[in-house]
Amino acid sequence: MQRPRVFASRPLPGSALQRLGAEVELQVWEGSRPPTPAELAQACADCEGLLCLLTDRIDQSLLDAAPSLRVISSCSVGVDHVDLSALADRRIPLGHTPHVLTDATADLTLALMLAACRRLPEAEAFVRSGQWTPERRWEPDMLLGRELRDATLGLIGLGPIGQAVARRAQGFGMRILGWTPSGRKVAGVENRSLEELLAEADILSLHLALTPETRHVIHADTFQRMRPEALLINTARGPLVDEAALLQALNSGQIAGAALDVFEAEPIGADHPLLQHPRVLVAPHIGSATASTRARMADMAVDNLLAGLRAEPMPHCANPGAWA
Ligand code: GLV
Repeated sequence: MQRPRVFASRPLPGSALQRLGAEVELQVWEGSRPPTPAELAQACADCEGLLCLLTDRIDQSLLDAAPSLRVISSCSVGVDHVDLSALADRRIPLGHTPHVLTDATADLTLALMLAACRRLPEAEAFVRSGQWTPERRWEPDMLLGRELRDATLGLIGLGPIGQAVARRAQGFGMRILGWTPSGRKVAGVENRSLEELLAEADILSLHLALTPETRHVIHADTFQRMRPEALLINTARGPLVDEAALLQALNSGQIAGAALDVFEAEPIGADHPLLQHPRVLVAPHIGSATASTRARMADMAVDNLLAGLRAEPMPHCANPGAWA
């Protein structure tokens, strides 16, 4: 029997693609950059399966160019790069990779929180640039930061990653408040309305999926409700935050700082005004970037794809209605 043709839009860490290649006719993108939409469409033209990343736009024009495509698996938990309604019309199931990146992303959230609160980027630049001189060996007021103990953490979104951040924050002695559109209750987290959360939090951390409803959930009005000492952390999706309003809030002293792993447009340009701001700490979308997590994501993406190609339910399907 002929093996199904599959395109993988990037090589993946670990041995998952080898396992996939043993079962399908696999073509892996070899470019040193991601395929453009036209290149992706061309590569998928006669494929039944696609293994993609969050950098690939999966929309109607791709589906039109790939008439045989019947299964898509994204090596990501977020699926905001996929037009689910276009998939629904063709009844194409979409695999994704929830849960395995929860701890890695929660760890990064705490890393950003600690780095921003203890001013680590400034401290590192201070040493490397030769400012740490005998005259300034140890000064009582040098690089003073703030502690997590007794600080109030406001979690927006209480899914697996928000909950994992809450567990870590409990270990640091933080007071933890939460708001989620579903009203979900989580042990150790005091529920608040969004307005109350914004007004009370010293550190606000975003853990929502990006949907039309959550886009710009943090905007000009929300910054007005926040405390001037507040720090905003985003390890979820950039468009949850209106970046122009964030810049304005930082410049006007409405909030104290931001630590961002994700941006409205990625990659953020090196000349973007947010990067010039001294109280903004940035990372290049590395929430899930540990060797073990990325290998597990690749395995899960391959398992989803193979199940879909066999017309079996995927272990983790983002649009289970496609099977109906
Ligand atoms: C990362 O952002 C993911 O969605 O997997």
